[in-house]
Amino acid sequence: MKIGVLCSGGDAPGMNPCLRAIVRAGDQYGDKIVGICRGYQGILNGEFWGGTDRAVDVREVSGWTSKGGASFNSSRCDEMRTEEGLRQVVENLRRYRFGALVAIGGNGTLTGAMEIAKRWEEGQVIGIPGTIDNDVLGSDYTIGFATAVKTGVDAVDKLRDTAGSHDMMFLVEVMGRDCGDLATAIAIAGGCELATIPETHTSIETLVEKLKRFKALGKKSTIMIVAEGDEYGGAYKTMEALKQAGAPYEMRAVVLGHVMRGGSPVPLDRILATRLGRFAVDALHQGESGKMVGEIAGKLSLTPLEEAVASHKTVARELIELLERVSV
Ligand code: F6P
Repeated sequence: MKIGVLCSGGDAPGMNPCLRAIVRAGDQYGDKIVGICRGYQGILNGEFWGGTDRAVDVREVSGWTSKGGASFNSSRCDEMRTEEGLRQVVENLRRYRFGALVAIGGNGTLTGAMEIAKRWEEGQVIGIPGTIDNDVLGSDYTIGFATAVKTGVDAVDKLRDTAGSHDMMFLVEVMGRDCGDLATAIAIAGGCELATIPETHTSIETLVEKLKRFKALGKKSTIMIVAEGDEYGGAYKTMEALKQAGAPYEMRAVVLGHVMRGGSPVPLDRILATRLGRFAVDALHQGESGKMVGEIAGKLSLTPLEEAVASHKTVARELIELLERVSV
C-alpha cells in the first residue's frame, strides 16, 4: 500500500517518534511510506520528503525518538477550508496514486482529514492526535501534551526562585488555544496558587480577594498560570486588570509562547507516539478509514473523525477543584 504521511498545524514534541513508528510499521507490511512535506500544503504542491514520492527508508528515521519538531515540516493550509482546495488535494492524492493517508495534528488537521475521507471514496484516511493542546476528543492524551507540561513546569520552577527572592507575583501565560488542560496541568504540577482558563469565568475581583488573603496569610510570592484563551486576552492584560483592581503584589508577566512546542519529547510522549503510529498502520491494514487512533484508559482505540472534532475537550472539573483546594 502506498501511504502518505503528514504533520499539519502547530508542531508538537513526539511527532518525530510517531513518524518513525509509521515508517517502520509500514516497512514490516511491505508498504511504501511517503513523507508529505508541510502538511496538506505538500499534497497541493507535490512536495515530498527526500524530493520525490519515494519510500522513506527505515534507516532514515533512526534517532527520531528523541528528536523534537516535525521533520517532514508542518504548516497550516488555508486552501483546506475551501471546497476547491479540498477537491485539489483529493485530485493530487489520486494523481500520485496514494492508497492511504495518515495525518498527524490537532483539531484543524483532523477536520481536514475528515473532509478528505468524505471525498476520497477509494482511499483510506487515519488521523493521529498530535498537539500540545490536548483538546481532541477520543484520546485521553495527545502527542506533545506531556512534554509541553514539563516545559511549563520547568519554567514555573525557575520563576518561583526569583519570585521568592523578590516577594513578587508572576503571571505565566501558556498556550492551549481554547482548552485549559495544559494550563491546569502546569498549575497543579507547578504548585501554582492560581490559574485562569477558558472553561471558567475569571472574576478579577475574586482573584484580588484571593491574593489579599494569600498576603494576609504571609505568602510572600505567588504564581498564576494564565491560559492564552482565557477571557482577558493573556497575561499582560490580566496583569493590568489586577493592578487596576488593587492586587497586593508587585507583578510581572511572562509569555512562554512557542517555547512550549519545542524540545525533545519526554518518555511518555515517545511511548504514546510510537503506540499510535504503529496502531495507525495496523488500522489501515484492517481496512479502517475516517477514524482517529487514540488511547483511552490505557487501551488503543479508534474514534470516527466526526466525533473527535465535534467539540473541544474541556478540562476535567475535578482538576479545577483540586487546584483550588490545594492552593492556600
Ligand atoms: O495548536 C497548537 C498551538 O501551539 C496552540 O497552543 C497555539 O494557540 C497555536 O498553536 C499557535 O499557533 P501559531 O504558531 O500559528 O501562532
